[in-house]
Amino acid sequence: MGTAVITGAGSGMGRATAELYLSRDWNVIAIDVADNPGLESANLQWVKADVRNRAELDSKIAAAVATTGGHIDAVANIAGVFPPTTLETYTEENFNFIFGVNVLGVLNVTAACVPHMQAGSSVVNFASVDGFTVSRGQLLYGASKSAVIMITKSLALELAPKKIRVNGIAPGWVATPGNAATGRMDEAAASIPIGRVAQPSEIAEWVWILTDPTKAGFVDGETIVISGADVMR
Ligand SMILES: NC(=O)c1ccc[n+]([C@@H]2O[C@H](COP(=O)([O-])OP(=O)(O)OC[C@H]3O[C@@H](n4cnc5c(N)ncnc54)[C@H](O)[C@@H]3O)[C@@H](O)[C@H]2O)c1
Repeated sequence: MGTAVITGAGSGMGRATAELYLSRDWNVIAIDVADNPGLESANLQWVKADVRNRAELDSKIAAAVATTGGHIDAVANIAGVFPPTTLETYTEENFNFIFGVNVLGVLNVTAACVPHMQAGSSVVNFASVDGFTVSRGQLLYGASKSAVIMITKSLALELAPKKIRVNGIAPGWVATPGNAATGRMDEAAASIPIGRVAQPSEIAEWVWILTDPTKAGFVDGETIVISGADVMR
């Protein structure tokens, strides 16, 4: 049993990841701008915070860690935003929003957690297949996820002397509430070679695998594509 910090735990894959770690008797420090959607456990601390706000994260994570054994074993940077943008529609405001949450957020949470992390612990950053291949209409989102992939490599090098591993996950189509709301899931499934979209719980399982040093102790700086052969790089 350890302690995991999971951002974006209010919905989709973040929620599924929080549920998985709680089901395996870990302490979970869940960080989200949203309220707890109904996760219940004595091992859960719901921390309402914006990943763009480093000072808020520093104090709230330190306070939460102090009540859960004093250290963090796993960090999952899952919070992300994905409004469509093109050269026509981008603005300074939506640039700052997308890069603020998706890129600065990863840096802020990781930096706030590292002082509480020991040798053998690890970080998993959520990128996207859109960070590897172009998704039409996702100009800034794709660029932000490419940044996450490169930040994952750089942080793996920076934190290797502390024996903290940093990896990424690049999901393809996942049956999240946001995707379901688009009404395009059946169409998406038909275009995926393996014939279906992923479930949030199976992506969460990969967070678990990557943060387990007995399974993935030699995997570091890698971003794993999980797309049912939709995107191969
Ligand atoms: N859904 C997909 O198919 C898909 C595919 C590839 C990658 N991704 C990436 O996976 C991650 C999770 O996606 P999802 O679809 O499960 O997301 P989601 O929209 O269901 O949930 C995201 C959560 O992040 C929280 N959040 C947003 N901004 C925040 C902020 N500033 N501070 C703290 N919390 C914040 C939201 O409140 C929400 O609870 C994202 O990084 C996303 O870009 C998703």
